[in-house]
Amino acid sequence: MATRVQTVAFQGIEAVPVDVQVQIATGGLPILVIVGLPDKAVKESGERVRAALTASGLSLPARRIIVNLAPADLPKEGSHYDLPIALGLMAAIGAIPNDALSGHMALGELGLDGRLAPTAGVLPAAIAAHARDLGIICPEPSGPEAAWAGEEIDIIAAESLLALVNHLGGYQLCSRPVARRRLLPAGLPDLAEVRGQDVARRALEVAAAGGHNLLMIGPPGAGKSMLALRLPSILPPLNPRELLDVSMIQSIAGELADGALSDRRPFRAPHHSASMAALVGGGLKVRPGEVSLAHNGILFLDELPEFTPSVLDSLRQPLEAGETVIARANTRVTFPARFQLVAAMNPCKCGLAGTPGHTCKRGDACAADYQGRISGPFLDRIDIRIDVPAVSVADMIGPASSEPSAAVAARVAGARERQRQRFLERGHPGIFTNAAAGPTLIEAVANPDQESQNLLLQAAERFSLSARAYHRVLKVARTLADLGGAEKVARPHIAEALSYRLNLGVS
Ligand SMILES: Nc1ncnc2c1ncn2[C@@H]1O[C@H](COP(=O)(O)OP(=O)(O)O)[C@@H](O)[C@H]1O
Ligand SMILES: [Mg+2]
Repeated sequence: MATRVQTVAFQGIEAVPVDVQVQIATGGLPILVIVGLPDKAVKESGERVRAALTASGLSLPARRIIVNLAPADLPKEGSHYDLPIALGLMAAIGAIPNDALSGHMALGELGLDGRLAPTAGVLPAAIAAHARDLGIICPEPSGPEAAWAGEEIDIIAAESLLALVNHLGGYQLCSRPVARRRLLPAGLPDLAEVRGQDVARRALEVAAAGGHNLLMIGPPGAGKSMLALRLPSILPPLNPRELLDVSMIQSIAGELADGALSDRRPFRAPHHSASMAALVGGGLKVRPGEVSLAHNGILFLDELPEFTPSVLDSLRQPLEAGETVIARANTRVTFPARFQLVAAMNPCKCGLAGTPGHTCKRGDACAADYQGRISGPFLDRIDIRIDVPAVSVADMIGPASSEPSAAVAARVAGARERQRQRFLERGHPGIFTNAAAGPTLIEAVANPDQESQNLLLQAAERFSLSARAYHRVLKVARTLADLGGAEKVARPHIAEALSYRLNLGVS
């Protein structure tokens, strides 16, 4: 008779139920075979499990053992199958009661000494277990993560196989883990440190308020990176629903330190040498990329033209759809990727094109070549583009009286609350920012007056705005009205939104 242990396979952030079936044959050569589309890590599982069981004082019978991972046509990736396989074997040899496993799902990686190692994906697995009225068995370090799935769910977070034998046999119980919040060092970099740059500060505030994409263009040392690094200090914390999504992605990527969750918005700043797989996900193992790790937060691309053009263009699809699709020969995986793009660049290779009194050695080609590395369709997705000129030394020496982040954050929070409320009233509880609203919805909520419509029409004709650009201008205008506390979108909002769009520092 085969023993059965329930576990999961990850498809994006979704945890799909998988059954681990273990059968010890009556005869045959003493080998352990794993079937059911296992990848290399899963195949190696057999060796780890055998060693871990031996280290725990449990030896396997010298018979042929078959482990089947069902459904057989679903690819299985990762090292979290160690524990369910080990539990199946332990039940088969009578080390633990067989019925102890029926109400639980198990996942975890094993060390050769029988210890359970921290494992990726425990949070989505625990949520899936909860939804199916099951408990969860996981490694002790991942326990706090599982505790976020709910108060009622039964969690067995064990340190080793031996601790599990003791718990399931009722000799010595493992204590229930508690959900933990990650305590981040207080005091993010503050906007008060940025002198001058009023236009850039305003643009940063608007971008934060509506979740809009932002591009800053200016000479080296103007403070572009400095401004971008201060964006987290003016963004509101994640709401509970966003927090869960963000944490599930971090869990799958194995980036939840100590199983503790944080409500701070993600801020990802990949280096410009990043590959396409690192940015949009995929690679040898299907793993969320930077765009997904930046979900509900910020993806900061510094020195934008230094990124490989094809890598930048691969961002176009997630920028539009809010998710990435990784297609494989035998599977297709979707990860959420609704991020806010913030980019910074110099206007040309030497960095000073457009600065009064400077002429590039290579003339106009210097700026044209550099800016040409960024494609038009990519640029079309950036709602706010601003020039960030160098600050004069006089500005730096003068008294520092910049507004601190806390004051800006309060205005941003007010504007975001207005958006959330409005979308909720219209029956869209999952939309929190103007940037995330679809075309029909934004047309309905922006609804510009006649005067503004005329202005939009003129601009559209003169600058041949694309349909996408039209909607994006409406979104920024709606955010400007929200920041100003205005009920309706009026001409000044449209004019300011257009000024961000048409500021073609990049041609
Ligand atoms: N507006 C500013 N206010 C205060 N310091 C600034 C400002 N702009 C630049 N700096 C100083 O110059 C340094 C470099 O700025 P940075 O943001 O890296 O420039 P960029 O990214 O535009 O090349 C900062 O660390 C800061 O010391
Ligand atoms: Mg910089």
